[in-house]
Amino acid sequence: MTAGLREIPAEELTAEQAAAELEALARELAHHDKLYYGDAAPEISDATYDALRRRNQAIEARFPELIRPDSPSLRVGAAPAAGFAKVVHSKPMLSLANAFSADEVGDFVARLHRFLGLDPGAPIEVLAEPKIDGLSAALRYEGGRLVRGATRGDGQVGEDITANIRTVDDVPKALAGADAPELIEIRGEVYMRRSDFLALNQAQTAAGKAPFANPRNAAAGSMRQLDPRVTAGRPLRFFAYGWGEVSGPIGATLEEARDRLESWGFRLNQPARLCRSVDELLAFYEETFGTRGELAYDIDGVVYKVNRLDWQDRLGMVSRAPRWATAHKFPAEQAQTTLKAIAVNVGRTGALTPVAELEPVTVGGVVVSRATLHNEDEIKRKDIRPGDTVVVQRAGDVIPQVVSVVKEKRPKGAKPYRFPRRCPACGSRAVRQEDEAARRCTGGLVCPAQAMERLKHFVSRDAFDIEGLGEKHIEAFWEDGLIKTPNDIFRLKERTEELKTREGWGEQSVKNLLAAVEQHRDIALERFIYALGIRQVGQATARLLAKQYGSLGAWRQAMEAAEDREGEAYRELVAIDGIGPLVAADIAAFFAEPHNRAVLEELARELRVADFEAPAGASPIAGKTVVFTGGLETMTRSEAKARAEALGAKVASSVSAKTDYVILGAAAGSKAKKAEELGVTTLSEEEWLALIGG
Ligand code: IVH
Repeated sequence: MTAGLREIPAEELTAEQAAAELEALARELAHHDKLYYGDAAPEISDATYDALRRRNQAIEARFPELIRPDSPSLRVGAAPAAGFAKVVHSKPMLSLANAFSADEVGDFVARLHRFLGLDPGAPIEVLAEPKIDGLSAALRYEGGRLVRGATRGDGQVGEDITANIRTVDDVPKALAGADAPELIEIRGEVYMRRSDFLALNQAQTAAGKAPFANPRNAAAGSMRQLDPRVTAGRPLRFFAYGWGEVSGPIGATLEEARDRLESWGFRLNQPARLCRSVDELLAFYEETFGTRGELAYDIDGVVYKVNRLDWQDRLGMVSRAPRWATAHKFPAEQAQTTLKAIAVNVGRTGALTPVAELEPVTVGGVVVSRATLHNEDEIKRKDIRPGDTVVVQRAGDVIPQVVSVVKEKRPKGAKPYRFPRRCPACGSRAVRQEDEAARRCTGGLVCPAQAMERLKHFVSRDAFDIEGLGEKHIEAFWEDGLIKTPNDIFRLKERTEELKTREGWGEQSVKNLLAAVEQHRDIALERFIYALGIRQVGQATARLLAKQYGSLGAWRQAMEAAEDREGEAYRELVAIDGIGPLVAADIAAFFAEPHNRAVLEELARELRVADFEAPAGASPIAGKTVVFTGGLETMTRSEAKARAEALGAKVASSVSAKTDYVILGAAAGSKAKKAEELGVTTLSEEEWLALIGG
């Protein structure tokens, strides 16, 4: 009976039907809770369980008077009904650029000088502190009270983990003292101590559950529990290292800000030291590296941050990381093992990538059985042969790699490796362009590996992210001919009957999948562009394109027109800062392929792709295109550019009819003339500063 009822949308149920279904749901969910938490033997997938909870919630929302005393939604610490809700970060949560050597630390500091327009010898105070490998979280306090916790997610949108974060002892539920701003979002790292991690793994193993690979995975896994009671039982801790949105000033320097965070009740990454030169930074790094074993938790490097907050503002960010900070990573951990074989994978762009299949070995606490061999030349250069004993290395969360061969241990008769000249997936010729490291399959669309990898990318987390449609499903559906192109995903409902008869699938799981697909017919332009998997168009580039062209229609039209290398559309494309001729060539190649255009055409019909929304809506220059020319007096060119971009403007390098403002510095030349010819507004530096608010 309930299965029949569940076909009816919650909005259309009668009160009588609703009561019957709520009763059934209470019974079923209690049963599944017991299986999951009590017996650790769930019968249904998490997605199916979530769907039941969502259904319960939807009916209760419509008929609050029918909420039962034994309702699953009233159970203490019950799981959030719909998995985790999404949280849009009011300020993006960034990642950090990395330095791996003393030279790279020198480059970081030199860049600070250049950007701030300081003499190379001028001291810049930089705060150094340990870098913890956990998972970042944002804690929002309003009126001094913790109101929300969120994960980083993709940096723009994270997951609501409020209930879970409240279970962490280190996280103040209310800020101490009376001087906290009305609104502040504290950012920091959730982590686990080594000893707690080992104890947890022992308990996991004793309970017949899989142990975690490392403390970071254990922390992340614990934080992503749908039931906060499980999280509460995990030994999680929190270090604060920064903040996002804040309603009032928090100090003039990072040092001052750290003192305030501490006074409000947070623990901070220790030890921290204020340094004034590259040498001082490197000394801190060496000391921290040498004494890291004395810390109770693992660290994977140190972080350097400019101390003055006004300088941090000026430095801003680049791509997805602040320009005012960098991580200096510790050298990777290494181990020796046998290379059983070299497998060759075919990626979505047809690149053949060699992968080492290894005798499993523990490297830095993680069992590694596969490692990257990078490419053909690397194998040749290191003379890596199947059967060799190799040195495997892991650094942070980077994919493990084969560093070198232990030649003394080479078995007799090991033959040099010959890289395949044909695609292992489709047998087409695999060729190498002169300037490229990778050999590529020429099979294009006839190559199943490429098509399948593209589909996997299409549904991946930062692209369409369809719940219940992961890599494994794509592979299985591909094999059975259910999904061959992205459009097939959105036409799955035509194959409902076929889906239901698949092994492991039933009425409810098919329904859930189709519902998840429906939900994703709405997508932001930048995600959509990224999902297409055009070579060299990662998230940052997809965002640049979305920002520049605004809508799917405008973008498609411009990209098709950009095939003409002499035309205005091509010029506009390569003038986007961050998109050079090489990226433009890859985009043009994508659009030159009739099949790709056809896929786009169909997708455009199936989906609702939302126009790009510029951040910082109130900014007077949001969405405008500006060009700087001549020398500026109050700031360096890169700083001016970064500020304009932070306010939502696009900065172009050449003037066209689409330019909104040209900012004239000293000795502005041909661009000023061009602006005049085209009737584009020109501004002096002073006028520009007035426009953007100083
Ligand atoms: S500062 C990017 N300081 O490392 C925003 N981050 O690899 C400023 N992390 O996303 C970050 N310890 O989650 C900062 N002392 C520390 C840190 C730290 C760990 C994490 C953080 C960041 C990631 C980048």
